[in-house]
Amino acid sequence: MTATPPRLEVQNLIRVYDGRTVVDDVSLTIEAGQVTCLLGPSGCGKSTTLRMIAGVDMQDAGRIFVDGSLVCDTVFRVPPERRSIGLMFQDFALFPHLSVAENIAFGLPRSDSTRMARVEELLERVALSGFGPKYPHELSGGEQQRVALARALAPRPRILLMDEPFSGLDERLRDGIRDDTLALLKEEGAAVLLVTHEPHEAMRMADQIALMRAGRIVQRGAPYNLYNAPVDRAAAAFFSDINILEGMVQGALTETPFGEFLTPGLADGTAVEIVIRPQHLKIDFDRAGKGPLPTAVDGTPARAEVARARFMGRESLVEFRLCHDGRILKATVPAVFLPKPGTPMWLMLRRDRCFVFPKAG
Ligand SMILES: Nc1ncnc2c1ncn2[C@@H]1O[C@H](COP(=O)(O)OP(=O)(O)OP(=O)(O)O)[C@@H](O)[C@H]1O
Ligand SMILES: [Mg+2]
Repeated sequence: MTATPPRLEVQNLIRVYDGRTVVDDVSLTIEAGQVTCLLGPSGCGKSTTLRMIAGVDMQDAGRIFVDGSLVCDTVFRVPPERRSIGLMFQDFALFPHLSVAENIAFGLPRSDSTRMARVEELLERVALSGFGPKYPHELSGGEQQRVALARALAPRPRILLMDEPFSGLDERLRDGIRDDTLALLKEEGAAVLLVTHEPHEAMRMADQIALMRAGRIVQRGAPYNLYNAPVDRAAAAFFSDINILEGMVQGALTETPFGEFLTPGLADGTAVEIVIRPQHLKIDFDRAGKGPLPTAVDGTPARAEVARARFMGRESLVEFRLCHDGRILKATVPAVFLPKPGTPMWLMLRRDRCFVFPKAG
């Protein structure tokens, strides 16, 4: 029995512009029905990667396969329109002179007798039944986005490439449209590669996230894994605010204001950074200069003073100044917790939520 090849497989793509490698050895596989988010900061090479897969830009090295068949290497090249790849880009420009129905039908052959039935089906699926005769300028941004999605899906592409498809939408509309879009994508069963620079969007949409930085994929996995087991400090920082404690390895241990951390496998004298997200700092009250007792889970408590507290809606953000070295640590607390600046308190770290990295550079 031979295993089914992945819907999309990208091997070692490289793209050089003006002597600068902007996509640097990118490999990816996506199965049918799965959503992969290519996530990374502006300029890291996300759109360039997408353009090469779509066939509108040519790689300098690397190969692309769809359902196990070669679509493109540096010699052979299937033209974009024959790749069964749907595209939806940031400015998802609808054709202004075509009605909604004509926009959606655009990629379907005129000879296809089921053409109008497919258009009606998609209009219903994106909750725009009856909108067929309208023109794009008569629609809201969210409605236009849904038409663009229907247009991209109409020819039943095997792969759908989406480049920041929600970025033009009102913030409050976005989550609802993301969820509806995801439900439709799952029904249609295409393999989806969605580009975004927003971690929130990637976590909401993706089965798999490929975290990209400076042309390279630095980590790939389920959202849970990227959030809870980041490969380095920058990967941790991409998903939330972080706190950093610094230390030096001595006999496989690193001493911190919160007690010793096990840092096995690192040579004596290695500088390390211990990273923790604000929601994993625990706060306790000061009882006449005393704090809680140390535990194996939370280590040694460290004394701190409130520097600033702000109400953020769903949570409060409290900044503490560690008495040990004056370092500021941020903690988030659900609901309203607004202690006065200068209030003495004790902080503990959820040790199972700390990430230890050798200091970069
Ligand atoms: N046609 C081109 N010629 C020269 N340089 C280019 C070209 N297209 C992109 N670049 C450069 O390649 C780098 C990667 O661009 P790309 O558009 O892939 O980034 P991105 O990750 O999509 O960023 P953003 O989130 O801002 O859209 C950038 O530094 C960009 O200036
Ligand atoms: Mg881009």
